Amino acid sequence: MAETEKKKRPAIQIKGLTKIFTLGKEKVYALNGIDLEIYPSEIICLLGTSGSGKSTLLNMMAGLEKPTKGSITIFGERVDNMSERRLAMFRQKYMGFVFQSYNLLPNLTAVDNVSLPLAFAGVRRSVRTKKAKQMLKLCGLSKRMHHKPTQMSGGQQQRVGIARAFVGTPKIVFADEPTGNLDTKTTIEIMEMMVRMSRENKQTLVIVTHDIEIAGYADRIYHIIDGRINSVEDNRDKQILPGQYPNPVDAPVAEEEPPEADSEESAPAAEETESAETEILSPDGGETAAPESESPPEDDADREISDILRNSQITNETDTEEYI
Ligand SMILES: Nc1ncnc2c1ncn2[C@@H]1O[C@H](COP(=O)(O)OP(=O)(O)OP(=O)(O)O)[C@@H](O)[C@H]1O
Ligand SMILES: [Mg+2]
Repeated sequence: MAETEKKKRPAIQIKGLTKIFTLGKEKVYALNGIDLEIYPSEIICLLGTSGSGKSTLLNMMAGLEKPTKGSITIFGERVDNMSERRLAMFRQKYMGFVFQSYNLLPNLTAVDNVSLPLAFAGVRRSVRTKKAKQMLKLCGLSKRMHHKPTQMSGGQQQRVGIARAFVGTPKIVFADEPTGNLDTKTTIEIMEMMVRMSRENKQTLVIVTHDIEIAGYADRIYHIIDGRINSVEDNRDKQILPGQYPNPVDAPVAEEEPPEADSEESAPAAEETESAETEILSPDGGETAAPESESPPEDDADREISDILRNSQITNETDTEEYI
């Protein structure tokens, strides 16, 4: 580990994490004493074969499952014993997710799917739609803005998934087998998109995979075997950088238009994102408008989004201190 990183506080710190599932008389040790530290802005791969415990570990970091033993601390806060309501707010504030099966809402268009995390953050409709469109453009999907998931290829759906995960610039993005359903070229495209975005915004990216080639993009690789960390590999000296995938035969070919910022609608992302961010997401979350409070629902998509917000545990009051 680099000397400078030793001095940083970890973004994610796990100690003695154990998860035992009980099936009848049988006990399954899905995780068996995991210790790890992930630092801000790192790209980490959790690499292991099927059944080794990767998803269980990721789900616990996200507070989606409770450990049997051990602790998980994210930005100085214990997530393993947080209330569900607080967890929901904590996730909304700090975490983005990319799933193997995309998990897009089938009745919503690409724009509406991507704008959903911003709706949770209390961003008003006009602003979140604008930001969602910018993200979709960055992800090379300007011609698919109003398509629903079934009207897009797997690779396109996953690009929507990435746009959704990154749109709110969360400090951590978790991705569980994000390219598990995709061919090699699309896999490289998707990986490079995630790596570029997380680098640009200095986000921590945690990727679960069984694929050693994908792990080549990481700064560090945690090798997981039977619920334990077998080794931690510093990969920085041989890391694959975006655009430098070693096998030219498999080099990605843009499926659609390359990511770009061409028209007025796709104003320079960094600048626009920055200002929109300042306007919308106050550091303590306290000054954001209540979700959807500013105007009544207009169509089916708005109604669906309003229902989701109503049924969520998220309110915009939070007392989380800024960590970094
Ligand atoms: N809800 C559950 N009940 C019982 N056993 C479980 C449960 N969830 C996971 N397990 C077991 O825990 C172990 C780890 O599962 P996990 O899903 O974390 O593996 P994984 O590394 O993500 O595998 P894959 O690559 O196939 O997704 C497996 O043996 C699995 O059968
Ligand atoms: Mg898994």
